[in-house]
Amino acid sequence: MAVTENNFRVPRFLAILVLIVLLVDEALCIRISERIPEIDLDLPNQQYLETAVFALGSFWRSEAVFGCLPGVIRTKVGYAGGSKTNPEYRSLGDHAESVQVEYDTRLTSFNELLNVFWSSHDPRQVFGQGPDVGGQYRSIIFTNGTEESRLATASKQLEQARSRNSIVTTQITPLGTFYPSEADHQKFELKQNPFLLQLIGNLPEEELQRSSLATKLNGYVAELCPPKIQRMIDAKINDIVKKGWPILREL
Ligand SMILES: *[C@@H]1O[C@H](CO)[C@@H](O)[C@H](O)[C@H]1NC(C)=O
Repeated sequence: MAVTENNFRVPRFLAILVLIVLLVDEALCIRISERIPEIDLDLPNQQYLETAVFALGSFWRSEAVFGCLPGVIRTKVGYAGGSKTNPEYRSLGDHAESVQVEYDTRLTSFNELLNVFWSSHDPRQVFGQGPDVGGQYRSIIFTNGTEESRLATASKQLEQARSRNSIVTTQITPLGTFYPSEADHQKFELKQNPFLLQLIGNLPEEELQRSSLATKLNGYVAELCPPKIQRMIDAKINDIVKKGWPILREL
């Protein structure tokens, strides 16, 4: 990302402009702070929203993987797949770090999310993922019943057929309780970038967690958006920076 991080206050009108340029051609729901006039661009109809939950390693990364896919409206990280009640980051028991993905079924599908799931981690790794070691990083597809279970099983068989010499360890299991994690871990990647947080108006935590724009930018900061979307956001942010508006020159 070519944007430097700066700590300064960005004028409100700029935050609104960024919202518009980033989202003008996207069918997304935007909820922004009451400090900014509310803009709803094609608010997705509740009836088209579904949620899916996956575990594929560190949930910071998992949230970024799904965040800027077309049709993904919101993401949330949490704990699932275990038996411990009220797990916490430092004591999550037998749960796996998971991401809950809210998506618009007119724009994407459980099957498309499954494709991203498989291509975004190595389901053949045992007891960890990448540099992260431990059962909390195991690979799981959570399902809501027979239909999702059928789709998940079929996709796992395809994945297994691609790698004859190693076993795909991914579990497929009905979703019990999804416990949302502590605020610190939500939109973790975006929170490492004060410049972008400013650019979208320094939303209060609750608004940030529900914001579709923050969901997208969280993937962008981690450079995990599909390449075309990554370039599109890059270009739009660079364009704004080039116009010089966010540069505080003197006081
Ligand atoms: C399960 O999720 C699918 C989408 O993958 C949805 O069509 C279906 O209505 C859901 N079933 C239940 C019982 O919630």
